[in-house]
Amino acid sequence: MEQQREQWSSKIGFILAAAGSAIGLGNIWKFPYIAGENGGAAFIFIYLICIAIIGLPVLIGEILIGRTTQLNPVGAFKKLSGSSFWSAIGGMGVIAGFAILSFYGVVAGWSMGYFVESVRGSFFDYTEVSGVGEHFNSLTANVFWGIGFLALFMFTTMIIVYAGVQKGIERGSKILMPVLFIILLILMFIGISLEGSSKGLSFLFEPDWGNVTGHSVLVALGHAFFTLSLGMGAMMTYGSYMSKKDNVPVAALQIVFLDTIIAIIAGVCIFTVVFATNQDPAAGPGLIFQTLPIVFTQMPGGYLFSILFFLLLTIAALTSAISLLEVVVAYFVDERGWNRHRAVIVFGSIIFLLGVPCALSYNVMSDVKLFGLNFFDLIDFIASNILLPLGGLFIAVFVGWVWGFDKVVVTLKEGAEKLFEKHAWLMPTWKIFLKYFAPILIFIVFLSSIGLLG
Ligand code: PHE
Repeated sequence: MEQQREQWSSKIGFILAAAGSAIGLGNIWKFPYIAGENGGAAFIFIYLICIAIIGLPVLIGEILIGRTTQLNPVGAFKKLSGSSFWSAIGGMGVIAGFAILSFYGVVAGWSMGYFVESVRGSFFDYTEVSGVGEHFNSLTANVFWGIGFLALFMFTTMIIVYAGVQKGIERGSKILMPVLFIILLILMFIGISLEGSSKGLSFLFEPDWGNVTGHSVLVALGHAFFTLSLGMGAMMTYGSYMSKKDNVPVAALQIVFLDTIIAIIAGVCIFTVVFATNQDPAAGPGLIFQTLPIVFTQMPGGYLFSILFFLLLTIAALTSAISLLEVVVAYFVDERGWNRHRAVIVFGSIIFLLGVPCALSYNVMSDVKLFGLNFFDLIDFIASNILLPLGGLFIAVFVGWVWGFDKVVVTLKEGAEKLFEKHAWLMPTWKIFLKYFAPILIFIVFLSSIGLLG
């Protein structure tokens, strides 16, 4: 029996689910530390440009492919092109879903674990950053801690995806996203009210161009993909549950806006406290697990702040993880005729198993290295620096050159007739960005990230 394919029950349901996918560890864990490492405001400026001229145009294209075909990435490319080359590009997205979720789940598991630590008040045992750093190392060195929380996180993700598009993903996002937003605003006000917080604000908003290098530009563009969940079919899959009455460009703009504003607010929360307590903004990936906890112990209301912070981080990770699992599930449901429940159980478990060596990279497998990278870093590198940019490049090329632009125009206008009537410049501008800017810039970034441009 053919089952009716689900759709979002409301426009806001899609926006919140897609924003939930975009807003994740990338915004709260990664963005602040890469901004910190690359000099703050000037880097943020470049990042905003990348989002606007590449992120947004490609996002519109990706959602559009999904909405037009109402299919998973493999099925979508197959339907529009009839070629197995393009189906394989969709397949690359499904593989990226497995890969990203396996290491993403590990960091998300740490967030859950840190939520427990913050409730227990463990950070108050330390007075030095080095102590919290050791605490982090001893937690991640514990095989059961890492794998246990990975399992708990994956299980939670699976429950939501198991419940389906409307009852699981949409309902979950409608509850979790407002909670996330409120927690973040509370944290921002606490951060700004701290003495010395203004140094953090100037670090974030007053550019010092001296610190910007070519490398910063590459980091900014790479991150633009990761943070918008672009290039692996997550937005395509979510777009496939959208109705033809919805306005794709406006939805994409709203998603980009929410994602960007949340990254910046997260930056404010983190750098106001980092500067108020004289910590190093360029502490790197450990910034929120190894630096921030000491900050909590030194600020008024730190106990509550720490609990809210790690709750926020876990929620953000969860709404992204469900979109990663959904890509894999949608493929097996649409293309292979699986039932959703079975697909969630089987592939959720396989992804958990793939996550195990990622978690073990921090303890028993720390010496196992390929190309100088441990398993965790290797999967992260392959997914974030190869599969996503390549996927984004192909999406831009497909929409700009292969699909047939007359058809693209017709389908993009569905649900957005008034917008394009009123602003006639929009369509040709989008076309130029998608056909030329995006592919060329992404290609340059791709070459340099795999080391060909030194
Ligand atoms: N956008 C998510 C984040 O910023 C990560 C993600 C990437 C999710 C790709 C889905 C697909 O954390």
